[in-house]
Amino acid sequence: MNFELTEEHLSVQQAARDFAQNELLPGVIERDDKQKFPTEQIKKLGELGFLGMMVDPKYGGSGMDAISYVLAMEELSKVDASASVVVSVNNSLVCWGLETFGSEEQKQKYLVPMASGKCHGAFLLSEPEAGSDATSQRTTAIDKGDHYLLNGTKNWITNGSTATYYLVIAQTDVEKKHKGINAFIVEKSWPGVTVGKKEDKMGIRGSDTHSIMFQDVKIPKENRIGDDGFGFTFAMKTLSGGRIGIASQALGIASGAYELAVKYSKERKAFGKEIMHHQAIQFKLADMATQIEAARLLIFKAAWLKDNGKDYNMASAMAKVFASEVAMWVTTEAVQIHGGYGYVKEYHVERLMRDAKITQIYEGTSEVQRIVISREVLK
Ligand code: CAA
Repeated sequence: MNFELTEEHLSVQQAARDFAQNELLPGVIERDDKQKFPTEQIKKLGELGFLGMMVDPKYGGSGMDAISYVLAMEELSKVDASASVVVSVNNSLVCWGLETFGSEEQKQKYLVPMASGKCHGAFLLSEPEAGSDATSQRTTAIDKGDHYLLNGTKNWITNGSTATYYLVIAQTDVEKKHKGINAFIVEKSWPGVTVGKKEDKMGIRGSDTHSIMFQDVKIPKENRIGDDGFGFTFAMKTLSGGRIGIASQALGIASGAYELAVKYSKERKAFGKEIMHHQAIQFKLADMATQIEAARLLIFKAAWLKDNGKDYNMASAMAKVFASEVAMWVTTEAVQIHGGYGYVKEYHVERLMRDAKITQIYEGTSEVQRIVISREVLK
């Protein structure tokens, strides 16, 4: 067993760290406050190859492994989880799904621009009444011979207004339940597609989360991904990898807050000495460091399994449920260590605490991860 990162891993990690400090940190408080999408920053991340990290270079990607992706996600998320969620959704849900299951024509037309960062995509599964219960899709795509007719509403869509292309999960045959679900590539510019209002969220406020409405949208037959009825399996397999990305985001939020807490404890004086000399603070920092390291190891394990072509379904669920709970706990402790300063925006930890919460909710709630894990355990 080798725990050492390669030279390539270290250089990706450094590049992401530099980007986070130089490009994401300036303005991050204002973007959060004003709910401003990091347009320029995402454009630059695309130019640097961070939007298609694991995609084969022949489709415009960077051809890296999942470990590199995890390292980059952690570094970006330490500073700006609103930007890193765009990176995560585009890499794991959109590009991976298309590269793995799309046709050659679909890859040329849609994957190449999204992997090379010319534009980005969104993944549309959740509905007003189908969140965790993903088989209960109400959005329909009815076979009309030479095309499908799409109708319905999707909720909580990350990149909803900024994405150029959507991967939409819809019911094509209600009788067949989850075996009658399909995945489609839909262009946002097509007639009948409406972007609903932007959600006013607790955290990741710089990211754009919207409802998307479809009314009689014509989808060409060639835009269905995979065989008829493959849509639910497509969604589950794609989310399995997506959970490694969100686990890494949670890890970054936690380690970002932890680093700020360590720094603050060396500067802030109370009772005649820097607070790092008080055991109450030392024990908190020790527990934070231990929890973060445990989360990191679970994430590396899931990414390693993925890179080595092994089953990572349970490992990614374990990584996500654990890392997201660590993020919530560590960020809360980081606020506590900062005292009153932790409760104001200038010190960043309150934002990280708000951002942490979503990692327990999206790409499958903590409860969903426990369903996935317990089913594997009891198989
Ligand atoms: N890989 C392949 N197939 C899978 C699978 C996987 N990982 N997981 C399930 N399946 C298959 C099952 O084998 C089954 O197929 P068969 O009937 O042929 O055997 C079929 O899918 C149905 O599976 P279940 O019976 O397990 O389905 P369920 O209704 O009990 O639900 C669930 C299981 C795990 C709760 C699932 O519904 C789920 O993951 N829900 C959460 C969805 C989710 O993560 N939503 C997040 C939205 S995306 C998002 O947040 C993106 C964003 O914008 C940030």
